[in-house]
Amino acid sequence: MTDILLLESLQKILHTVDEGIHIIDNEGITIYYNDSMSEIEGLDYKYVIGKHVLDVFPNWKKENSTLLTVLETGKEIIDEKQSYFNFKGEKIYTLNTTFPVYSGKKIIGAVEVARNLTNINEMNNKILSLQDRLGTDKKEKVDNTRNLFTFEDIIGESNDILEAIKIAKKSSETKSSVFIIGDTGTGKEMFAQSIHTFSSRSDEPFIGQNCSAIPDSLLESTLFGTSKGAFTGAVDRPGLFEQAHKGTLFLDEIDSMDVGLQAKLLRVLQESYVRRVGATKDKKVDVRVIAATNRDPSDLLNEGLIRKDLFYRLNVITLKLPRLCSRKKDIEILVKHFIKQYNNSLSKSVIRVQDEVMKIFKSYDWKGNVRELSNCVESIMAIMDDDSVIRLEHVPTYMMDVMTDSEVDIIDYKCGDDEDLNDILSRIEIDIIRKQLSQSGGNVSKTASKLGISRQNLQYKIKKYGL
Ligand SMILES: Nc1ncnc2c1ncn2[C@@H]1O[C@H](COP(=O)(O)OP(=O)(O)OP(=O)(O)O)[C@@H](O)[C@H]1O
Ligand SMILES: [Mg+2]
Repeated sequence: MTDILLLESLQKILHTVDEGIHIIDNEGITIYYNDSMSEIEGLDYKYVIGKHVLDVFPNWKKENSTLLTVLETGKEIIDEKQSYFNFKGEKIYTLNTTFPVYSGKKIIGAVEVARNLTNINEMNNKILSLQDRLGTDKKEKVDNTRNLFTFEDIIGESNDILEAIKIAKKSSETKSSVFIIGDTGTGKEMFAQSIHTFSSRSDEPFIGQNCSAIPDSLLESTLFGTSKGAFTGAVDRPGLFEQAHKGTLFLDEIDSMDVGLQAKLLRVLQESYVRRVGATKDKKVDVRVIAATNRDPSDLLNEGLIRKDLFYRLNVITLKLPRLCSRKKDIEILVKHFIKQYNNSLSKSVIRVQDEVMKIFKSYDWKGNVRELSNCVESIMAIMDDDSVIRLEHVPTYMMDVMTDSEVDIIDYKCGDDEDLNDILSRIEIDIIRKQLSQSGGNVSKTASKLGISRQNLQYKIKKYGL
């Protein structure tokens, strides 16, 4: 009963999967052929079942059929690329894995699993052609260094950012690879572009490619180019390495690159020669590579997301960009900078932010770093009337939430009609103690140390206010 259930379920599953599945017995007769295979090969399964493979494909010889080859050799064939015209006359690309099925030591059949790559191939070609067409415009753009960031655009006075600028400027004098590490929005792209514009390569192209933006097969042809015949429809096309010749190539989110492709990248970095996909000859390229990641490199190495040899090759100069919340000193001057920028672009005349607002800006954790701060100032200014000051009421409420309640209360505090200063201070004191006590789960010692007063003093106040 269980066997029948399993068999029936398996048949149902095999009919629904996207991969084509073809099973033959040890005589070469088809015993199973699923819907996906029927679609790939353009054949009705009724026509195939019970027939010998070579009767269905009369033009084939035994050695053309991976199924029959596997039956004869007993060895599996993994990930073999195939291209052929199917029975409907369509050009088909598949990636096939074929393996023998044994009963003890005897081969009793073979299974072929085919992944249809036809659409992916077409899509790859279309994207490459589009990139090609766009390339002319893009090249004009990247050649124009006025569009690229320079060190003057990087705002900051904190030690960390000044140190990063110092290292980055020094790195501009060399051709060594630079590895930029920093959370999202910390300025990795800005630094990469600034290194380029500050270097002797500044009149040559700067090309940026986000490695997570496109699938690996496309990334390979994008980086290294293609040669006619690499795959159907492929034309001779230079990759980004060739296009960035004498300039700089910025590889963002390098950890998203497949490790197989990382090995090819390492080869280009070591030898300064690039080979287009499908070509037999190498081309010399002179490209300065800057790579970036927003993850901790030791995690990437531990998780095997980046090859050690590539990491050491790229990490000749390391630039670690600090999070915005760790350089609070810069928040004020960044805000001033963005106000000026958005006064121009939004035709506003904002002069400053209220002290309370700056306090919130400095307490907020800015997970999106400088980009988030820039967006925040922009969205506040976009909805402001003619006011010249950014006030509390302009600040999004979600930002207030990150402040401890007591801080917000102090900022928002209103003087009651018959309260004198002592009353107000007591009210605030009660509020702060109550909230800190509740945050530390009622622990008096913890609360006292958080508030910077002695345990005895806190106990006295708890008693005094009846908390
Ligand atoms: N130090 C800075 N001074 C001025 N603006 C900055 C600074 N750092 C970042 N920015 C602003 O933040 C935006 C984002 O910076 P950038 O694109 O370089 O970040 P990133 O680290 O590459 O982020 P992601 O990992 O999300 O790609 C920039 O366009 C710029 O407006
Ligand atoms: Mg970036």
